[in-house]
Amino acid sequence: MKTLKVGNTDLEVSQIAYGCMTIGGSWDNSPLSEETIKKAIGSIREAMDQGISFFDHADIYTYGKSEEAFSFIWNESASLREKIILQTKCGIRFGGIPKAEDPQRYDFSYSHIMNSVDNSLKRLKTDYIDILLLHRPDPLVEPEEVAKAFDELHDSGKVRYFGVSNHNAMQIELLKGYVKQPLIVNQLELNILHSDLIESGIITNQRYPTDRHIRASGTLEYCRLNNITIQAWGSLANGLLTGRHTDNKDEKIERTYKLVSQFAEKKNVSPEAIVIAWILRHPAKIQPVIGTTNPERIRACCQADKVELSREEWYALFSEGRGAMMP
Ligand SMILES: NC(=O)c1ccc[n+]([C@@H]2O[C@H](COP(=O)([O-])OP(=O)(O)OC[C@H]3O[C@@H](n4cnc5c(N)ncnc54)[C@H](OP(=O)(O)O)[C@@H]3O)[C@@H](O)[C@H]2O)c1
Repeated sequence: MKTLKVGNTDLEVSQIAYGCMTIGGSWDNSPLSEETIKKAIGSIREAMDQGISFFDHADIYTYGKSEEAFSFIWNESASLREKIILQTKCGIRFGGIPKAEDPQRYDFSYSHIMNSVDNSLKRLKTDYIDILLLHRPDPLVEPEEVAKAFDELHDSGKVRYFGVSNHNAMQIELLKGYVKQPLIVNQLELNILHSDLIESGIITNQRYPTDRHIRASGTLEYCRLNNITIQAWGSLANGLLTGRHTDNKDEKIERTYKLVSQFAEKKNVSPEAIVIAWILRHPAKIQPVIGTTNPERIRACCQADKVELSREEWYALFSEGRGAMMP
């Protein structure tokens, strides 16, 4: 698998990352079952066999069970830990925890960041996290608290590098005004059907498509300029372009699905490979995070490593996905 360098660091990682969001089974406090662990290890092993060296987590994924399930991979080989990059996130808190009346919320306070990392380390059964991301921007952020937490986590060796997720350019600038450690990653939703990150650069000075409320304006360009690696979550568009059945696919999705299938047939690869290759074709060296637990689909995604999309093919997919030709 081809590699990319994360931010301005010496981390050379697989250009496709594996997303561990659902490997822990159900989203509740039920205990992790033997069956779920077995399935999780099968998915992780398949990802590694395909050359993936980068694994994405969050403290909240399946209520901590995804991190816990992942830790069983250490039974495979004692030296595995140094060969892979582990990323996790903190900052989202579920409603009802710890008190029943607590709402779903974000929390970038010093104490929450520190607690969250300690709990992730325990669940992942490791001494260090390679990259810690702030999961979703907290409107009540006190950047001084983030700076203090990141300093201590870095100095104690618990976290090597830091980054953010779902942040726009100015939110990163705000953090950078206080945080000493470089922010090397911004993880955002991006796929052919959800291309706002790219669209925001197209519609400057355009009046249409009028139904779009584009967010993240300038964030892609900001990250490129500042050596922040963009990771694409939702990179498979949840299967909508690769055969997942839903009753209410709209016309735009159907047309994009057909074009993806057509290109896959022409290039003799899987539709998943086309969907992932569309992200890889962008010169920002964006790292797609694939969230499928199905070993066959993991293999299908990794075929993207060998797919070259021409400018024309990339734009054809982009136009179908945005539901309008280029202005
Ligand atoms: N930073 C954030 O806020 C954020 C948010 C969400 C996710 N993430 C990260 O990004 C990763 C990927 O995101 P994602 O899981 O939302 O999106 P994704 O990779 O686009 O989609 C994966 C999901 O789609 C299903 N799927 C794919 N192809 C399918 C098909 N042909 N038929 C039926 N189901 C199909 C998969 O089910 P199977 O497992 O059955 O294949 C899986 O549930 C996550 O694991 C997580 O690490 C980050």
